[in-house]
Amino acid sequence: MIHQACISCGEKYGADEILYSCERCGDILEVKYDYDVIEEKLRKSDWKSLPLSVWRYKDFMPIRPSSKIVSLNEGGTGLHSCQRLADLLGVKQLYVKNEGENPTGSFKDRGMTVGITKALELDMKTVICASTGNTSASLAAYAAKAGLQCTVLIPSGKIAYGKLAQAIVYGAKAVQIRGNFDQALKMVLELSEKHREVYLLNSINPFRLEGQKSLAYEICDQMNGEAPDRVILPMGNAGNISAAWKGFTEFNKLGLTNRLPKMTGIQAEGAAPIAQAIKKGSNKIVPVDEPETVATAIRIGSPVNWKKAIRAIGESKGTAETVTDGEILEAQKMLARSEGLFVEPASASSVAGLKKLLESGKIDRDEVIVCVTTGHGLKDPDIIMKTSEKPLEVDAEIESIEKLVGLARPIPATVVSR
Ligand code: F0G
Repeated sequence: MIHQACISCGEKYGADEILYSCERCGDILEVKYDYDVIEEKLRKSDWKSLPLSVWRYKDFMPIRPSSKIVSLNEGGTGLHSCQRLADLLGVKQLYVKNEGENPTGSFKDRGMTVGITKALELDMKTVICASTGNTSASLAAYAAKAGLQCTVLIPSGKIAYGKLAQAIVYGAKAVQIRGNFDQALKMVLELSEKHREVYLLNSINPFRLEGQKSLAYEICDQMNGEAPDRVILPMGNAGNISAAWKGFTEFNKLGLTNRLPKMTGIQAEGAAPIAQAIKKGSNKIVPVDEPETVATAIRIGSPVNWKKAIRAIGESKGTAETVTDGEILEAQKMLARSEGLFVEPASASSVAGLKKLLESGKIDRDEVIVCVTTGHGLKDPDIIMKTSEKPLEVDAEIESIEKLVGLARPIPATVVSR
């Protein structure tokens, strides 16, 4: 039977109980399955013939067979072989799993398709979240598709413009609070506990994370059942690294891959409670009161999923690293200019982290590595315009253009080869 359980004391709750923490000890919850049942379902299903997408993995999801699935065609993102970037960094095999290819431009869509489908199962009419931007964009889109009311709380002035535009155009009530993400999350938790008709879809909701685990399933399937040696992800609230690890372990348990990757989490230096704890060898975080980074998506000081993330990194024998804003922006350009992939700053932190861990010798150059880039670069064009060279401008004359872009003297037409 599918049920929820506390990650600390193991207390069990039904799959339809609406609660966001353990009533006995207060810790966070996870979704549990009977894997024999999943195995049986898989034996009878043609899932392997379906295209790559979150719903290829329906048998692994905590959704009733009769449920109406709310989908915008999420998942099925590219696993790009990045040889030019690999050569620049000095690593043998590098792939980028580019989650910006999802319908609203981030990995959150994997979670929201399941979370909103669950909201309909529970007959909820209103959904809510706190967000640094992408969660609000995604929730707003899926709520619109499902015909639900949606409220999003965002830190005033601290989310990328593209994300704010998305929340607004999809019709959410976008509320900017004078405070940071951590405060916004506390407030939506309080609101959803006080007003039971409001369903909370932050990553503290374990059903949302079930959708996000499909990231790991896809990576294994795209690599023909071979998990990579290492998966590197940015960490904010740390839901995604926890979900991905759950996905890898489940695929392993079901015999669909015989390897497990080392989970490696990257945080921005000014918002790095988990990475700092891992570096110190501690299994407890010290929250950061005033987190700060150019990567606004991961500007989080008190991540709710920190215990799950520390567990994932520990069990997988992975590691964590911090990167500076400068390193993040450099990695963003490096990825765009070597591979044609434009990702937002938070996403580029995975590449920045890889570079740093290679340089310090903590990652072996022979490893097969997957960097997850979590959100599309177009969400935050401001940062590029602020930190890059300005476009060239000249009069509309051929000679001026030739001079400016350094075109040599014309070659006679007879010499131009075909
Ligand atoms: N990358 C991007 C682009 C994100 O938007 C986020 C989180 C993360 C990485 C970190 O993922 O929280 O699962 O560790 N964004 C959330 C939001 C907090 O509100 O959009 P995580």
